[in-house]
Amino acid sequence: MRMASFHSRSSNSNGNHPASSFSLLLLFLLLASVSASGTVAKAISQPTTCNFDRGPVVPTTPLVTFLERVQETALATFEQKDFDPKLYVDLSLKSNLSTIVTAFHKLPRNATGSVLVPDFKEFLHEYFDGVGDDLVYAEPPDFVPEPDGFLPKVKNPQVRAWALEVHALWKNLSRRVSGSVLNRPEFHTLLPLPRPFVIPGSRGLLASKMYMTAKAIVTNLISLIDTYGYVLNCARAYCTNRSAMVYDIYNRTGDLDLVKKALPALLKEHQFWNSGIHKVNIQEDHCRNHTLSRYYAMWNKPRPESSTIDKVHASKLLNAYEKEQFYRELASTAESGWGFSTRWMRNTSDFTTLAITSILLVDLNIFILKMELDIASMAQIVGDNRIAESFLKAAQARKQAINSIFWNEEKGQCNNAFASNFVPIWIDLFNSGTFLTVGRHFNT
Ligand SMILES: *[C@@H]1O[C@H](CO)[C@@H](O)[C@H](O)[C@H]1NC(C)=O
Ligand SMILES: *[C@@H]1O[C@H](CO)[C@@H](O)[C@H](O)[C@H]1NC(C)=O
Ligand SMILES: *[C@@H]1O[C@H](CO)[C@@H](O)[C@H](O)[C@H]1NC(C)=O
Ligand SMILES: *[C@@H]1O[C@H](CO)[C@@H](O)[C@H](O)[C@H]1NC(C)=O
Ligand SMILES: *[C@@H]1O[C@H](CO)[C@@H](O)[C@H](O)[C@H]1NC(C)=O
Ligand SMILES: *[C@@H]1O[C@H](CO)[C@@H](O)[C@H](O)[C@H]1NC(C)=O
Ligand SMILES: *[C@@H]1O[C@H](CO)[C@@H](O)[C@H](O)[C@H]1NC(C)=O
Repeated sequence: MRMASFHSRSSNSNGNHPASSFSLLLLFLLLASVSASGTVAKAISQPTTCNFDRGPVVPTTPLVTFLERVQETALATFEQKDFDPKLYVDLSLKSNLSTIVTAFHKLPRNATGSVLVPDFKEFLHEYFDGVGDDLVYAEPPDFVPEPDGFLPKVKNPQVRAWALEVHALWKNLSRRVSGSVLNRPEFHTLLPLPRPFVIPGSRGLLASKMYMTAKAIVTNLISLIDTYGYVLNCARAYCTNRSAMVYDIYNRTGDLDLVKKALPALLKEHQFWNSGIHKVNIQEDHCRNHTLSRYYAMWNKPRPESSTIDKVHASKLLNAYEKEQFYRELASTAESGWGFSTRWMRNTSDFTTLAITSILLVDLNIFILKMELDIASMAQIVGDNRIAESFLKAAQARKQAINSIFWNEEKGQCNNAFASNFVPIWIDLFNSGTFLTVGRHFNT
């Protein structure tokens, strides 16, 4: 949720400072809660004729740009051994940016651009607050050690005791953005979320009967969609699953207001995945056309939190266009939540051939299909039949597209035994035992 790291919260964060450990913990829990995921993909053939990267880019802020320069100076000064790139883009300012930029320019440097270690440490200490100060503990108001009706089916006392211990973690995991972020958002790369939050999501919270906390999370996500049109760095399972979160909370609490509030945001987010660069039209062999969605980060520069590392990888590429394209692939892979893997490379021994924007992932499309069905149900709940009908149609079309694009009738099985083969079973639209496959190339 950090402006500066929206492309790779889940990727190579190797820091061991509090904020980093916190996000790694969250990531761990997140992955633990996403039981069924993985990918089957199709390659989109890349146009080879254009000589510049045409894709959209979300402009970065002067603060992030400056922190990247601080990061580069830190690398030159501390050298690899004492250097965690993400640390620097998470710093928050003690005074206004122009004051700090001036002080930064005044630092004495030698020919290699490095500053003496003590000078640089003093500069950091004087002008920046510690990483992690911008998130503070928030006691969840709806936490009780043993909620009424908690896991009624679990009878074994040892298992129950363990489940209650896990349940107790909610209390420790709850955070809110500190007052200083809300008062001076321009001093922080952390986004000013209005409500406290616990990641990961609402499913466990509902089991723990923590409806207020679950609603607060959804409200935060809605506020991000209202502001940015989509949720930064949160493009994958947990995130495209917001519609299910809203629907589930409604199911347990009957909170019609929440549905009314969430619906416009969900429509906006659906639009994000089904327009512009995220939308892919595919012409099937027998004249039939389909539309699916792909990952495509709005970014074609080094990822701020690891820009020094990204630049080293890109240095073997010859021209600016190739570099930009590579940076976009890096950001898109991070956005997808998938780790960097040879699965996304055209040449498995060459990291710079990363090409996830050219691959259609079945899991993303399954999640969007689920979103379409949830939106249809919620539109019905609030009495908007026009939206309900159009989303049922959209869901049918996507289901057909998924069936004909990813399912390989000849083989009746998948080329790769990834967990995502089970995502369709998870949403219960396809038969168990169904496998998906990597298939034909097509043009965007
Ligand atoms: C999405 O939400 C539904 C309902 O809350 C849940 O059953 C499902 O496991 C969630 N999926 C993921 C990938 O988190
Ligand atoms: C930044 O802070 C300095 C010193 O506190 C002050 O003189 C200057 O006016 C401030 N600039 C802005 C844009 O607030
Ligand atoms: C610049 O500083 C670095 C780190 O302090 C040092 O290793 C290097 O020798 C210095 N170079 C010059 C040209 O002074
Ligand atoms: C949770 O917080 C309590 C109180 O701050 C602390 O004693 C306990 O060790 C924490 N547990 C974990 C697992 O972090
Ligand atoms: C909640 O879901 C259950 C099971 O799908 C359903 O029977 C029930 O009617 C739903 N409740 C509401 C308020 O939608
Ligand atoms: C599919 O799209 C192609 C290219 O846009 C178009 O020429 C063709 O008419 C479309 N076919 C159908 C069946 O809509
Ligand atoms: C793949 O990358 C390796 C390492 O850069 C290179 O030696 C090899 O020629 C490449 N293979 C192809 C087919 O381009």
